[in-house]
Amino acid sequence: MLEKMIVEGGRPLSGEMTVSGSKNSALPILIASIMAPGRFEFHDVPDLMDIHTTAGILSELGAEVENHKTFIVDSTPIASYEASWELVRKMRASFLIMGALIARFRKARVSLPGGCELGLRPVDQHLKGFEYLGVKISEEHGLVIADATGLHGGKVVFDFPTVGATENLLMASVTAPGETVIQNAAREPEIVDLARALTAMGARIEGAGEETIRIQGVQSLSPITHKIIPDRIEAGTFMVAAAITGGTIIMNNVPTTMLVSVMEKLRECGVRFEETGDALTVIGPKKITPVDIETLPYPGFPTDLQAPFTSLLTIADGTSIISETIFEKRFAHVPELIRLGADITIDGRSAVIKGTGGLLGAPVMSSDLRNSASLIIAGLAARGATEVYRIYHLDRGYERMEEKLSRLGAVIRRVRQDD
Ligand code: EPZ
Repeated sequence: MLEKMIVEGGRPLSGEMTVSGSKNSALPILIASIMAPGRFEFHDVPDLMDIHTTAGILSELGAEVENHKTFIVDSTPIASYEASWELVRKMRASFLIMGALIARFRKARVSLPGGCELGLRPVDQHLKGFEYLGVKISEEHGLVIADATGLHGGKVVFDFPTVGATENLLMASVTAPGETVIQNAAREPEIVDLARALTAMGARIEGAGEETIRIQGVQSLSPITHKIIPDRIEAGTFMVAAAITGGTIIMNNVPTTMLVSVMEKLRECGVRFEETGDALTVIGPKKITPVDIETLPYPGFPTDLQAPFTSLLTIADGTSIISETIFEKRFAHVPELIRLGADITIDGRSAVIKGTGGLLGAPVMSSDLRNSASLIIAGLAARGATEVYRIYHLDRGYERMEEKLSRLGAVIRRVRQDD
């Protein structure tokens, strides 16, 4: 059943919320549980569609999975090393199963991934990386087949810092005999969290979070209990929601050290932050000051917050330019924001956003995870009702967003979408 979200805008947010565990950290770490037989216990795993998909992949391989408050995986019974199209097509991150299967079984058969509509998202860097480690890769009927019987340490040099390929190669290399050096590695906090989990399992990794990661292969790994880091993208999204409504919210479990570039841009927009103990108060300004943003690999400004910031800047007091350098097709929210009265033109990989006096509610269509959040955020500021269609995209990556927003005073409800 398709659903849509109806937002009645114009109310400043106020109250307290708690940031959930990170989706993009949980996905690779849950997948890493297949690397060693035994019972793994994960805390702070968010309750999301992408997590359910991951549970499905682990079960399909033969693991026993319980996903209640604690996410438990018993990977002892895993006997299969094939991840089917049925599951992999739903989520690009499924391709991380490849590195984990190589580490455990020295072989893998994984369908080429699908995922959000963000333009061409090839996996050439993943495959090139595996080949550096002696893995023989072939492709057949949409499946990538890895023969890693000759797996060994090696030097992996990425053309650019890719998050997924860095994670896949980290997993494949931890049991590869000898030393592996990954150069031009991505430095995202989620990679550091994965390395922390793998290290607790017995891996020997140095330099996660830096451009060069060194791994000394170990013979075996053991199960762990692990707590997932907070979701920096959810945190950033709620900061933007407070800012666009001129509201004040208190946030708990905010990973401020992972949000330096984001909070800096919000400060330039006029947002104020006050840290008291573990909580962060976000105070939205009366007027949004325009800013220019370029998305970059971490620690630069995250592409996953580009769409929410585009919404924020539609009501700024002047013109802002946002340049998207990570994905070639991540402006699907723009025509929808224009339906709400925004003044935006796209010039190649940049959006030129002229602030308007205000937005007016209208029906809009979401087409990926972060753009659905950006349309809800715009709806919070728009006068009248904004209806965001195809809200299933939101459920892939935000844990009960409408409940969290309602508790902050937003008027938002989920209803059945008829067509
Ligand atoms: C991760 O995707 C995140 N997903 C994305 O979040 C995030 O937008 C992205 O990193 C960038 O920060 C997860 O962590 C599950 P990449 P990933 O490999 O790993 C190109 C969200 O909304 N590329 O760093 O797929 C690729 O096409 C999601 O939560 C190649 O060309 O990102 C893209 O343009 C969306 N060849 C760019 O690199 C490759 O082999 C960055 O991709 C690999 C990537």
